[in-house]
Amino acid sequence: MASSSGIFDQARSAEQMYNARALYYNDSWHPRFAADMVKWAAIQPSNKVLDLACGTGLVSLAAAAIIRTAAHTTRGHIIGVDIADDMLSIARTSAISQNVTDIITFIRHDITQLNTCSHNLVFPGSFDTIISASSLPLLFDPKAAISHWTTYLKPGGRLVVDAITPESEIPGLLFEQSVEACGAHVPWNRTWIQDMHSVTELFEAAGLQIESSFVVSNYRSAKGPYSSDDGEKVVESFLEGPSGIELRTRGVEFGERIKEEFLRRWEVRAKEGIVDEAEGFYIVVGTKPELANDDGQV
Ligand SMILES: C[S@@+](CC[C@H](N)C(=O)[O-])C[C@H]1O[C@@H](n2cnc3c(N)ncnc32)[C@H](O)[C@@H]1O
Repeated sequence: MASSSGIFDQARSAEQMYNARALYYNDSWHPRFAADMVKWAAIQPSNKVLDLACGTGLVSLAAAAIIRTAAHTTRGHIIGVDIADDMLSIARTSAISQNVTDIITFIRHDITQLNTCSHNLVFPGSFDTIISASSLPLLFDPKAAISHWTTYLKPGGRLVVDAITPESEIPGLLFEQSVEACGAHVPWNRTWIQDMHSVTELFEAAGLQIESSFVVSNYRSAKGPYSSDDGEKVVESFLEGPSGIELRTRGVEFGERIKEEFLRRWEVRAKEGIVDEAEGFYIVVGTKPELANDDGQV
């Protein structure tokens, strides 16, 4: 979505899409994936954890189950940050029903601008663990985001993110390319993800050491293969659903241009009448180097 200055406002665009999805978001593969992200983050009960793009709180709530095992005096805390009020309201309700409101604080804010967050628990160099599940391919500038988040880690702290593999969700990829070709944006950004290196290089650029990187699958079942005749139905479902909220404000003719671009790409992609896809995610776990002492040793 364009802001009043004409600049694409990614946070506003994501907010609209996820407010529209909030009610049925948890009826998906996300709870299982979020639980695994927490496992890969190896959170300790004393950790201060930042859950970026926390959505309905799936990561925060799974982390709370670990944090609550510590005695009160050594217990960590979790901050969940998201831009979409309707997602956050589900997160807050779940925290109340799971009796963990003393362990988790949910904040509405743009995760790419934590420096403008005035909450007294959010400050640079203060988190043991930062997790951002299913968010990196939504951000306009993922490289800047990883660098920004790294400044919020303590030395020795850990960052865990994921990114969809290029073979996954082919309709979404083609829709993004088609909308971009028409000079607009979708509320996601994944064409930069070519392979694992696309993600690990963002960590390296931020000065993080790669602790592990691996591919996982079997979370969301791939909806394909599609028949080459399905293109029209597929593009219409994007234009008419939560991803098309901002695009619909541009009128019918604009939608027709996107459709044309999409169908052209769909046809190129189809092999022997079939558009196929696979499902997978790159997972990257990185750590911030410990501070060097005067001898340059950590
Ligand atoms: C796919 S959901 C992931 C939610 C949660 N991490 C999970 O694993 O279930 C993506 C979330 O990112 C949030 N989001 C996207 N861009 C954001 C931004 N710039 N600032 C804050 N939240 C953002 C959306 O509002 C949405 O709740």
